[in-house]
Amino acid sequence: MVSSSQHRRPDAEPQARATRPEAGAANGGEWRLFDRIAHRYDLLNRLLSARQDVLWRNRVLRRLPAGDDLRVLDLATGTGDMLLTLEKVRDRVAVGVGVDMSSQMLKRGRRKLDRRGLGAGFSMVRADAGQTPFAPDSFDAVTMAFGIRNMPDAAACLAEIHRLLKPGGRALVLELTTPTHRRLLQAYLCYFRHILPRIGGLISGDREAYRYLNRSVEAFPQDEAFCQLMKDAGFQGVAHYPLSCGAATLYAGDKRPAAAY
Ligand SMILES: C[S@@+](CC[C@H](N)C(=O)[O-])C[C@H]1O[C@@H](n2cnc3c(N)ncnc32)[C@H](O)[C@@H]1O
Repeated sequence: MVSSSQHRRPDAEPQARATRPEAGAANGGEWRLFDRIAHRYDLLNRLLSARQDVLWRNRVLRRLPAGDDLRVLDLATGTGDMLLTLEKVRDRVAVGVGVDMSSQMLKRGRRKLDRRGLGAGFSMVRADAGQTPFAPDSFDAVTMAFGIRNMPDAAACLAEIHRLLKPGGRALVLELTTPTHRRLLQAYLCYFRHILPRIGGLISGDREAYRYLNRSVEAFPQDEAFCQLMKDAGFQGVAHYPLSCGAATLYAGDKRPAAAY
């Protein structure tokens, strides 16, 4: 994985964190942590983000590629909230496939899909987002919400997304980030480092899982640094859209259309 300290905003990097090389670094087994907290994952997402996560996923819809009969893959789908968000544009989406490694997250996700009657055309598969079983050029859009920072090798995962997209297809990567405004950043980090892990720990019974959250976000490349990773993976027209003052960011990039090859 990309070295974390290279990509951090300097003002978000306090001394104490800088001396902790393991902070936020995904090692490939992160999905096991989600098996442990799956029973409280949705509740905590809504609570800890003050429901902003719902709005953030909605913003992904606005950037879907044009056209109908879209085939959409959602990597690190977890309990399927991105697939359920796609339901809002069901008339444009022919196929929605969610991929995750955590069987507990998938179990809850499948239940949600069933409850919403999203059976036909929508499915969930247990697979590694960095190495999926799908053929190249299979999807019009690949979405990934709050998943890329959990990958042991974000660059390899972006290369996999690029492989899976049809020429002209679009990658939409939503990730938690830290605000750019200095004052806001200080308040945010106070919440993120001290309050959020306590609430997350109390409700999920797994405080370490919610300490991993802030460490992994703070250590992960964001804004231009992440855009560069997308460009390196072959995407063009790469752009990033800060959401809620930069608490999350939506990254978009396209695979070159067939004529351009
Ligand atoms: C923060 S959750 C995001 C879930 C969902 N996308 C959402 O919007 O709430 C991260 C997800 O990534 C999954 N994950 C972690 N490593 C993975 C891997 N190598 N392949 C597939 N999924 C993985 C976890 O199991 C977890 O469900």
